[in-house]
Amino acid sequence: MPTLTATATAHPNIAFIKYWGNRDASQRLPQNSSLSFNLDGLLTRTRVSFSPALTSDSLKLNGKTITGPGLARVVNFLQLVRNLAGETIFAAVESTNNFPTGAGIASSAAAFAALALAATSAIGMHLNEKDLSRLARRGSGSACRSVPGGFVEWQAGVEDADSYAASIAPPTYWDLIDCIAVVNASHKPTGSTEGHELADTSPLQTARVVDTPRRLALCRSAVLSKDFSQLAEIVEQDSNLMHAVMLTSQPPLLYWQPATLAVMQAVQGARKRGLPACYTIDAGANVHVLTLASDVNPVRAIVEAVPGVSQIIQAGVGGPAMLQKPSLDG
Ligand code: DP6
Repeated sequence: MPTLTATATAHPNIAFIKYWGNRDASQRLPQNSSLSFNLDGLLTRTRVSFSPALTSDSLKLNGKTITGPGLARVVNFLQLVRNLAGETIFAAVESTNNFPTGAGIASSAAAFAALALAATSAIGMHLNEKDLSRLARRGSGSACRSVPGGFVEWQAGVEDADSYAASIAPPTYWDLIDCIAVVNASHKPTGSTEGHELADTSPLQTARVVDTPRRLALCRSAVLSKDFSQLAEIVEQDSNLMHAVMLTSQPPLLYWQPATLAVMQAVQGARKRGLPACYTIDAGANVHVLTLASDVNPVRAIVEAVPGVSQIIQAGVGGPAMLQKPSLDG
């Protein structure tokens, strides 16, 4: 059998309505549906080569060989792909991110979306978008949202078969920009996988989950009608609700740094003065400041001026996970 190789790319995504807490952690079936957009310009490129000559799976990330839990997570995922394909051969995985690693930009969404597409293609399977999204979800929940393009909704569903993401609008639908304010965190935060497991220890999680259909409907209609002020209110409320759950979990998860709060206040001040801007924060100290392309310069200047912000990474709305032409695989 020849070496079976494919290369795929995918963008990370930022959620307006967050995924936090699983009903079934092993299958990553979430407690609530979520809504996000892909981040254009930020890209993970992953090459997968299955070969009968290999005696184990291997992983290189930005040129560095990865072992331990990072490799184990990829091996588990490749095992799902092998089971689907009815194969037993091992693979070499090489992945690069074009965004600064260690800047606290969550990369598992782009990583598992690109890996799902590259690995299934390399092994000779051609999954449709829905099945690819379901598969990517098994590697990292939010990865299912990096498979389709543009503005994407992940239906929580009730089982593996109906828990997947689909586009609600293409990338060109609305010129939103994410200015990611990179805040220097002094310690490595608790990862999302561990965080999801703590969600139910907060007495606020049930209320957050029960209220999600309301927030989701408001958010979806804000996107589809391009109503920034409605979007801003619901996005900040959703982020605050998730962080309220994190803060009241046992043990509590406090991701914010002083500069995180300073950016949140600067953004709220800018909005009161009439600028379209709102914040959303994932499981880290960085603040995603959302605005319109027409207003990015003043908004970016305000965020850049906040003490403790070391860098701004700017991204528009990105497309779907894509397979690279075989001629470029080398
Ligand atoms: C706060 O998808 O990173 O970014 O499934 O364990 O990989 P795993 O978790 P992950 O969780 C994302 C959490 C979040 C919110 C979101 O993106 O919806």
